[in-house]
Amino acid sequence: MTEEMLCKNLLLGISGSIHAVDAHQYLLFFRQHLAQNIKVVMTRQAAQMVSPQTLALYADDRVFVEVWDQSPEVNKAAHLQLTRWADLFVIIPATADIIGKAANGIADDLLSTCILSYPRTIVFAPVMNVVMFQSKALQRNLKTLEADGHYIVMPEALGMAVGTGDWAHTACPTPETALLHLRHIRMKQLKDDYWEEATREKPMTPSERKKQYVQEIKQKIQARREAEQAVPSKQNALE
Ligand SMILES: Cc1cc2nc3c(=O)[nH]c(=O)nc-3n(C[C@H](O)[C@H](O)[C@H](O)COP(=O)(O)O)c2cc1C
Repeated sequence: MTEEMLCKNLLLGISGSIHAVDAHQYLLFFRQHLAQNIKVVMTRQAAQMVSPQTLALYADDRVFVEVWDQSPEVNKAAHLQLTRWADLFVIIPATADIIGKAANGIADDLLSTCILSYPRTIVFAPVMNVVMFQSKALQRNLKTLEADGHYIVMPEALGMAVGTGDWAHTACPTPETALLHLRHIRMKQLKDDYWEEATREKPMTPSERKKQYVQEIKQKIQARREAEQAVPSKQNALE
């Protein structure tokens, strides 16, 4: 971890694909190359695939799963606290389900509520069975997410799915590939932030500048007059 990390606070969302078992690799890699701090939100289904306690070892906090978080350190609703904290938000792996919820504004668990509460671009990395991936609903939802300003990292390869032996878009982006996309999004955000900051004050027109100059001169003259009146004259002092 160095001071020059591109991202200060990264929020990693994990949904219930079997590829959730690889999450620790992303956590290690992003910690090394991208973010100073990383927090994790998982769906309940993802927590069936990999234990939140195990992933917490790789994160900067315990792993968040429930909307109603009773822990004393969550003094506001967890979804607001986490999304206000995060500079960058990525969902790896993204199930068809979480993509469907995100595309339709459904917020019925912690991860989907965080998605709806996050005001910036979110990066989604879908991974699933081929039939699910090619379904009209999933393709429609991906298009909606892009139209809403979110960013999709497409799965890279076909392979044999764990458990069923079916063909599936098994390849989540590798940590290296995911990093390239996340860097791209973060750089874009920083540029947008910088631009907004730099252009927050509207530049003055020449006539506005002249008016302001005349106004300043008048104020100076007035201030000098008042100062002169405040000093008692020599004559008054002798009397
Ligand atoms: C072993 C197993 C593997 C699964 N893998 C995937 C997957 O890669 N992608 C996917 O979209 N759904 C997958 N599913 C189905 C999701 O777990 C299911 O749709 C679930 O409702 C997703 O919930 P979540 O989006 O809240 O995590 C898998 C289910 C099981 C049992």
